[in-house]
Amino acid sequence: MLRIENLHAYYGLSHVLRGISLDIKEGEAVSLLGRNGAGKTTTLLALMGYLKPRPGVIEYRGRDISRLPPYIISRLGIGFVPQERGVFASLTVRENLTVAARGGKAGLWSLGDVYKLFPRLEERRDNRGNQLSGGEQQMLAIARALLLNPSLLVLDEPSEGLAPLIVEEIIKTLRGVRDNGLSILIVEQNIKVAFDVADRHYVLSKGAVCFEGGTADIKANDAVVKQYLGV
Ligand SMILES: Nc1ncnc2c1ncn2[C@@H]1O[C@H](COP(=O)(O)OP(=O)(O)O)[C@@H](O)[C@H]1O
Ligand SMILES: [Mg+2]
Repeated sequence: MLRIENLHAYYGLSHVLRGISLDIKEGEAVSLLGRNGAGKTTTLLALMGYLKPRPGVIEYRGRDISRLPPYIISRLGIGFVPQERGVFASLTVRENLTVAARGGKAGLWSLGDVYKLFPRLEERRDNRGNQLSGGEQQMLAIARALLLNPSLLVLDEPSEGLAPLIVEEIIKTLRGVRDNGLSILIVEQNIKVAFDVADRHYVLSKGAVCFEGGTADIKANDAVVKQYLGV
């Protein structure tokens, strides 16, 4: 479904991604792990078209998407939940959702469906973005991405800064949509979330993949866990 090969990226003269390769099959949930500054967000920004690969291959369902702008990539079916969540502070929950849905293709997800997924959002539908808790903002960001009816959902540290109970709810939700056939690429620093949501993991260090394997493979590898995941 997704193939990234030998991806390099720069911020100015700073060579941040140094040959990342990864792939995701249809229906698979995959995580990208690694310490702060390893290059996780940069990888997602390149995938979503915010940063040009120099060089590198990014193919989605057999099509080269590496030179396409973000809105086209999103229309092709890759939904993005950014690290900073991107909720419009002055719009209500409902407005945030309807604005997002306009740009997408018709499909599985309706406003009613995302309210069913996150009842809290329906209760808060007339509240503005800046009145929401961190957890509610994260739910809104995920709901908004789903309304675009993606085939691949890409999330950057969805658990960051959230209370444990909310993290559990996010995990349950992501497992639910995954079990319904949605593919997932999740970036996490919280390895419990990554292990609960994804089956296969890539560990990044200094802009390159230093380990790749299933959940059991990583759990069994103390050196990787200590050195690259900091736990
Ligand atoms: N806008 C930027 N300009 C320059 N350097 C950046 C920028 N964003 C990130 N970096 C650097 O790129 C590296 C990778 O960052 P990032 O992809 O955000 O890491 P992660 O998401 O894994 O924490 C870090 O060394 C970071 O300091
Ligand atoms: Mg990051």
